[in-house]
Amino acid sequence: MSGFLIKGGTPLEGEVEISGAKNAVLPVLAATVLGAGKISLTRVPNLSDVKVMRDVLINLGSNVIWDKDRMLVDTSHLNSCQIPEELMSQMRASIFLMGPLLARYGKVEIYQPGGCSIGPRPIDLHLKGLEALGAEFEQKHGVLSGQANRLKGAEINLDFPSVGATENIMMAAVRAEGKTVISNAAKEPEIINLQNFLNSMGAKISGAGTDEIKIKGVKQLEAVEYEIIPDRIEASTFLVAGAISQGEIFIKDIIPEHMEAVLSKLVETGTEIRIGKDWVKVSGVTNYQGIDLQTIPYPGFPTDVQPQFMTLLCLAEGTSLIKENIFENRLRHAEELRRMGAEIKIEGNTAIVKSKDKLSGARVEAMDLRAGAALVLAGIVAEGDTVVEKIYHIDRGYENFEHKLTKLGANIVRTKDSKEAIKAEG
Ligand code: UD1
Repeated sequence: MSGFLIKGGTPLEGEVEISGAKNAVLPVLAATVLGAGKISLTRVPNLSDVKVMRDVLINLGSNVIWDKDRMLVDTSHLNSCQIPEELMSQMRASIFLMGPLLARYGKVEIYQPGGCSIGPRPIDLHLKGLEALGAEFEQKHGVLSGQANRLKGAEINLDFPSVGATENIMMAAVRAEGKTVISNAAKEPEIINLQNFLNSMGAKISGAGTDEIKIKGVKQLEAVEYEIIPDRIEASTFLVAGAISQGEIFIKDIIPEHMEAVLSKLVETGTEIRIGKDWVKVSGVTNYQGIDLQTIPYPGFPTDVQPQFMTLLCLAEGTSLIKENIFENRLRHAEELRRMGAEIKIEGNTAIVKSKDKLSGARVEAMDLRAGAALVLAGIVAEGDTVVEKIYHIDRGYENFEHKLTKLGANIVRTKDSKEAIKAEG
């Protein structure tokens, strides 16, 4: 199984280009099912999750051409409403197809997704919302089948501002009869991205980015060209890389307003930040301060940047508290960081991180995507060699991660067999 071998101790310096956002492109790709004709998407990141979504679309009967960061999707001749178990098991985000397939064909069949390493991840809010629009679901032998003769607009109040449920309901409501109002909607930039994409196709949606989204159903959507927004989570990961390695990184072609919570927490640590219209420059300092943070739905501090901040705070002065409020089991990277010499205690959903002068290289395991990125950051500053195993998790969400880091001066290579990596290097 491949892994990353990292030799720690080099400050990262230079410029990095940020890819299109994983969490923005996945719902947009699902939404292509709502239209007809050739939809052209640019700034599509080359990620394993995007490859699975492409395969799902092809499996439904779409024609997909992917060349560099441009993808052409034609869903004019779909011939299936079923997502096979094999593809479903590779990517939870296949549930995004529920709304669009119900809207277009009145039918969908998926395999019920299970929990994952960051905790149980129910889809009750997706189902409740789609049911309010008129869909009916039945579950048998692990298969979830949805039916709807005609979707009808409704008022839907989400118990929690779930990102995925908000997007699924938006996509179904776009072709429903009449008006839908989603209250307590998620406010993430990826929701605005989806609204903009759908509106460019002819949908009538307003309010994305606030907690109330209004959708007027339309009969038809047109093919368009659309550019995906930059990945604020990837950009935030590079910000932490600059801060922790006491280097200087210029992060370009981004939308700094999408990262306000992360930027203000970095400033609180004493890290130097300069912000331009579409760039941020981070300059790490030698003695940065520990801070307290808690994850909150957008515009609060993102759960997807919590693991990277845990690595950063291991080497900060004083004690830091990190409270994870979004996912039940998203502090497991603490165990791996402890193997590298970190002093972290877990109490319920809070991590108490004590100051250490250094981390030391070790063999560690990426349990999920962002935990994996956090361990790579730890390896970059640790003394000696670190091997991060199970990096297929990292490939789900970081395009060319090791190449971008190498360009900044990191010493990181992908090894075919991570078990042999340290031995072979001597
Ligand atoms: C999306 C992001 C993910 C990010 C998360 C929170 C994508 C592809 N993924 O995931 O990277 O970490 O937002 O910002 O965009 N919940 C329920 N019932 C539901 C749906 C969710 O109880 O029907 C719970 C979840 O278990 C979790 C919380 O709500 O505890 C947040 O989940 P949600 O906002 O739905 O996250 P995702 O859309 O799955």
